[in-house]
Amino acid sequence: MSKLWGGRFTKATDQLVEEYTASIQFDQQLWKEDITGSLAHVTMLGKCGILPAEDVETIKQGLKKVAAKIEQGEAEFTIANEDIHMNIEKMLIDEIGPVGGKLHTGRSRNDQVATDMHLYLREQTIELVELISKLQQSLIGQAKENIDTIIPGYTHLQRAQPILFAHHLLAYVAMLQRDAERLMDSWKRINVLPLGAGALAGTTFPIDREYTAELLKFDSIYMNSLDAVSDRDFIVEFLSAASLLMTHLSRLCEELVLWSSDEFSFVELDDAFCTGSSIMPQKKNPDVAELVRGKTGRVYGNLVGMLTVLKGLPLAYNKDMQEDKEGMFDTLETIHGALSLFIPMIATMKVGKEKMRQAAQQDFSNATDLADYLVNKGLPFRQAHEVVGKTVLYCIQQNKYLLDLTMDEYRQFSDLFEDDIYQTLDVMNVVNARDALGGTAQRQVEKQLAYMEQLKQTT
Ligand code: ARG
Repeated sequence: MSKLWGGRFTKATDQLVEEYTASIQFDQQLWKEDITGSLAHVTMLGKCGILPAEDVETIKQGLKKVAAKIEQGEAEFTIANEDIHMNIEKMLIDEIGPVGGKLHTGRSRNDQVATDMHLYLREQTIELVELISKLQQSLIGQAKENIDTIIPGYTHLQRAQPILFAHHLLAYVAMLQRDAERLMDSWKRINVLPLGAGALAGTTFPIDREYTAELLKFDSIYMNSLDAVSDRDFIVEFLSAASLLMTHLSRLCEELVLWSSDEFSFVELDDAFCTGSSIMPQKKNPDVAELVRGKTGRVYGNLVGMLTVLKGLPLAYNKDMQEDKEGMFDTLETIHGALSLFIPMIATMKVGKEKMRQAAQQDFSNATDLADYLVNKGLPFRQAHEVVGKTVLYCIQQNKYLLDLTMDEYRQFSDLFEDDIYQTLDVMNVVNARDALGGTAQRQVEKQLAYMEQLKQTT
């Protein structure tokens, strides 16, 4: 088959080379963006008088026919035509004849592919921010249901201080908010038009890039043609925002796996989001959470892969850059899948409120409050720490918790202890005592809830 660039060659491309260098297998995902970009480009060529109006019209109609064919699954993409750009151009020429060859006037595949990637990621970014927002809503819904559910708070995975389960869930809402903000912020750099940069140096035709930008709704234009075709920062930025998002989801996954184990029994994931074992009939495994945690690895891999591809590249375009696509597509698919599953899985999760409360009561997570109690009676904190440490040791030896000790037992450790300690140590009071801004007291968590509910995500 003759190549669009075949003029300078005396031999056909080696079959293996053709297969190795083609990207049509994966970049066909860009077909819509490629046609959108071409429609804008040819409209601009017409407006600038570079192509006559009738050619522009013929090309536009041809592109629309090609789009319809692809849409209906009638297009036959070929490896011989290498990538989506040349496959579409070839289909256009087959459709309308040699006039189709005028489309590529004043353009290169280098600015074309960069434009396609910008258009594609721009669209996907909006969708992702919406998905993140929905997951935040699921978490907020559970937080509302659990505004009086107490859970042990952990450090070092050792029980530390009791907290509201709502407080715990809202921490994830806050992380996801940063993820959404990072994606929204990247908009400034995604929504920039490379088209018009040509192969690397600009074009000899009197094009109007501002007009193309307007047609494609880009806020700005790359000011340097070399940069326009060499820049993949926006993809790195996306991959790094995606990596952090996966980090957050993966931490939640880890907690869900722990919490749904018999050892914790804090939550029960809905049957629809769990799977069984082929041998052990009793099993109900939190596979989704495990797999999202596992897939975090490939997203990090895609980020490191992209950075590595770029690090040694001389300006401007190099074929290496074709490697920007699979990692980006794969990451989009991975996070799309993870978010889409998490939204209903979190919403349908059953919370073992009683189990959580019991766990928070049968431990020493009120020990800090006992120390604070002594501080309020005038004892320096360091001494109070020592007294309570001894009291806890005594409890462990006696197989008791702090609330089980009698007043006489307390008095062995300090005569500052009085009857009101029992109230101080009550788990709900312990939670509500942390009433400074951002703390776990119900009053503060309600404030957080109100704040997070009104967060609006707009790009
Ligand atoms: N398939 C190529 C890519 O994805 C398109 C750009 C090709 N440009 C070139 N000069 N070979 O990067």
